[in-house]
Amino acid sequence: MDTANFEVRKTVKLNSGYQMPTLGLGTWTLTGATCETAVYQALKCGYRLIDAAKYYGNEQEVGNAVKKAVNEGICTREEVFITTKIVPWTSNPAADIDNSLQKLQTTYIDLCLLHQHGSAKEDDAVYKAMVQAVKDGKIRSIGISNYYTEKDVEKFIDGYEIPPAVVQNENHIFYQNNTLRDCLAARNIYVESYYPFGGRGHTGDHFGNPVILEIAAAHNKTAAQVLVRWHLQSGYIAIPGSGNSLHIAENFDIWNFELSEAEMRRIAALNTGRRYENW
Ligand SMILES: NC(=O)c1ccc[n+]([C@@H]2O[C@H](COP(=O)([O-])OP(=O)(O)OC[C@H]3O[C@@H](n4cnc5c(N)ncnc54)[C@H](OP(=O)(O)O)[C@@H]3O)[C@@H](O)[C@H]2O)c1
Repeated sequence: MDTANFEVRKTVKLNSGYQMPTLGLGTWTLTGATCETAVYQALKCGYRLIDAAKYYGNEQEVGNAVKKAVNEGICTREEVFITTKIVPWTSNPAADIDNSLQKLQTTYIDLCLLHQHGSAKEDDAVYKAMVQAVKDGKIRSIGISNYYTEKDVEKFIDGYEIPPAVVQNENHIFYQNNTLRDCLAARNIYVESYYPFGGRGHTGDHFGNPVILEIAAAHNKTAAQVLVRWHLQSGYIAIPGSGNSLHIAENFDIWNFELSEAEMRRIAALNTGRRYENW
């Protein structure tokens, strides 16, 4: 697939029929007041996608921030797209979903993901619980996370009444899994990039990369903005994480410039196929 053909849109229509924003705030490592402030600031500056997880221990704070923004008229609940995730090693995924709804202080979760793979039995229990929750109106769209091959994803497409709408994976300039993106695009499933900047401990390699810095200078943008733009122009949904309000605003200020085909090709050439995580 020619990446130049991807049009950058603020939302995409999922196979569930719902719209999902293409750029959101990641909340891994954000807890307590830092999380609540970050999510509130993000909503204030225009973000409408928030990525949380039961495992992050921050659903209550995400819920508080969304509620505050809604109460202040910054957005409506319907305009905000909230993602959470259920771990495979849970003993009761249905109860986990109810608990997430309670903590997020909402009647529905926009997107619920199986956080990572467990045993086949565990994956099956979580996925079935998510399918049932869609039927019960508790979840709108479902997906999986940390599945890197078409074969891995296929069992969820073929084996259940509702296919995944989104696959959330590690994805960045040094790990560009175009094969998965293209085969899932053909099935109307979006890949959502986590670690869009490489994740904590690796961001220096991404922000300091000479090619990225050269392109950033040419557009009078920051390296972070070029990286976000690259994710969106490559057809990914991206959720850069930040607890810093200046960074949060910077990462969202990417709608007014475009990477050229030549620049996209230069970034494509940075791919080493190396992932940081192995789960
Ligand atoms: N499904 C999964 O298994 C999984 C795994 C990992 C992550 N995730 C999700 O994906 C999201 C993104 O990943 P991530 O947050 O781990 O890593 P990331 O987005 O690649 O990088 C986050 C790091 O970048 C820094 N940063 C952000 N914007 C910046 C800017 N403009 N300038 C300089 N530094 C900047 C942040 O620091 P500051 O706070 O100082 O801005 C933080 O240290 C997570 O938050 C989480 O929601 C999912």
